[in-house]
Amino acid sequence: MSRVADFPDGDRKIIDVNGRSVGVFRIGDTFYAMRNLCPHHHGPLCLGRIHQRPISPVPGVFEMSDGVPYIACPWHGWEYDLETGQSWLGPGHVDARRYDIAIEPGNQVLEEEERGEAAPAVPNSDGRIPGPYRADLVQVYVEDEYVVIDD
Ligand code: FES
Repeated sequence: MSRVADFPDGDRKIIDVNGRSVGVFRIGDTFYAMRNLCPHHHGPLCLGRIHQRPISPVPGVFEMSDGVPYIACPWHGWEYDLETGQSWLGPGHVDARRYDIAIEPGNQVLEEEERGEAAPAVPNSDGRIPGPYRADLVQVYVEDEYVVIDD
């Protein structure tokens, strides 16, 4: 248990929880915690760069979102949502959607949809498609000005 004041806003501390390395992140008054172990190739995930996601409301204009930040693994760059642990953009990937296009007779397309073969990955509300990895989250909360980690 550490005091809230020991955690700098916008940064993280790496702590040992029963022999496991855990990153505890403070973003304003909100705390997040996840194992310091990247599900990709077991890199020190929580030592990576914390950043907001860039968004482009119109071509040529870029802003930084004010949502939950991401942590980018320092080894290969997979990005993880601090709140859910879900991976998003990985190395070598571009943040663009790709569509397979084919000309098919109408009855054949209908049969593929019924078999579930044509179902695309489901994007989130921003149109982003989730990556294949999910970081291990750790329960963290504030109690009487102390940060408590549940293991
Ligand atoms: S080990 Fe983290 S991205 Fe590869």
